[in-house]
Amino acid sequence: MIRTLEQFDAYVAAEKKIEPKDWMPDGYRKTLIRQISQHAHSEVVGMLPEGNWITRAPSLQRKAILLAKVQDEAGHGLYLYSAAETLGVERADLIDDLLSGKAKYSSIFNYPVLTWADIGAIGWLVDGAAIMNQVPLCRCSYGPYSRSMIRVCKEESFHQRQGYSIMVELMKGNEAQREMAQDALNRWWWPSLMMFGPSDKDSEHSSQNMTWKIKRFTNDELRQRMVDMTVPQAECIGLKMPDKDLKWNEETGHHDFGEINWDEFYNVLAGNGPCNKERLAVRNKAHHDGAWVREAAVAYAKKNQKIRA
Ligand code: 3HC
Repeated sequence: MIRTLEQFDAYVAAEKKIEPKDWMPDGYRKTLIRQISQHAHSEVVGMLPEGNWITRAPSLQRKAILLAKVQDEAGHGLYLYSAAETLGVERADLIDDLLSGKAKYSSIFNYPVLTWADIGAIGWLVDGAAIMNQVPLCRCSYGPYSRSMIRVCKEESFHQRQGYSIMVELMKGNEAQREMAQDALNRWWWPSLMMFGPSDKDSEHSSQNMTWKIKRFTNDELRQRMVDMTVPQAECIGLKMPDKDLKWNEETGHHDFGEINWDEFYNVLAGNGPCNKERLAVRNKAHHDGAWVREAAVAYAKKNQKIRA
C-alpha cells in the first residue's frame, strides 16, 4: 500500500495502478474527482439529445439499436459516479452540482438534434471522439477509472459504428437523404473537434495530468488523430468536410485543418450554447420526478438491513 509521496511517484512511474485506499496527493484526488464527475455528467446529459429520437427512429431495428445505445450511456454514468465515489465524495453532491449548473459536462451535448441524420453524425463523430479520448484513459494511473473505461470503450465502439452505418445508408439513398447527411456533418463537425478541449497552449490541467499519467495524450494530439481518422471515412461515402483549409500535408503525414471557433467553445462552456438551459431544465425535472424511486430504494434497503440484523 502506498503511504508516501515517494512511493506514489514510484508507482506512477512504474505504470502501477493507484487504488482508493492508497495515499495520493490532494491535487491528484481533486483533479480525478473533477474529471471523472464531469465525465459522468456528460454521459448522463448525453442521453438527452438522442433519447428524444427513440420514438422517431425510422425502423424497429434502428429503434432497438438507439434504445440500447442510450441505455449504455446511463450505465457509463453509473460506473463513473461509482469510480468518483471511491475518491471520498458523495454521488448526491456531485449530482447537485450538475443540477445547479456548477459542474461542467461536455460542450457537445448543448447542440440541437434536428434530423435523423444528426443521430448518425452523433454516433459517428461524437462517440468517435469519445473513443479517441477514452481508449488512452484505459491506461490511466487511477485503477477504478481505468478499469471502468475498458467496458465503456467497448460500448462506445458499437455506438460509433451504428452512427457511421446510418450515414452510409443515407448516402446510398436519394438526394434529399444525402443532403440531410451532409447538413448533419456540417453542423456536428466543429463541435465534435471542440470536445477534445482547449488547444494545448490554453489547457490548464494537461501538463500536470500527463505527469500523473491520468492523461496520455494532449488535447491537440487527440484532436489531430480524430481528424486523420475521420477524413477518409467521410471521403469513402461521398461526404465533404466543412473546412476549406483541410488538406493532406505530405511532410507531417497528417491533415492540416482550419481554426476552431474558440469563442463559440467558451460561450458554450459559460452556459450560453443553443441548448444549455434546456438540458439542465430536463435533467432537473427528471431528478425531481424520480425522487420517489430513490426514496423507495432507500426504504427497501433499510428494511432489508433490519431483517438481517
Ligand atoms: N466541454 C466542457 N468542458 C470542457 C471541454 C469540453 N469539451 N473541454 C475542456 N473542458 C473544461 C475542462 O473540464 C476544464 O474545466 P475546469 O477546470 O473548470 O474543470 C477546462 O475546460 C480546461 O480544460 P483542460 O484541457 O485543462 O482540462 P482537462 O485536462 O481535464 O482536459 C478533457 C479536458 C480532455 C475533456 C478531459 O477532462 C478528459 O479527457 N475527460 C474525460 C472524458 C470526458 O469527460 N469526455 C466527455 C465526453 S463523454 C461522451 O462524450 C459520452 C459519450 O457517450 C459520447
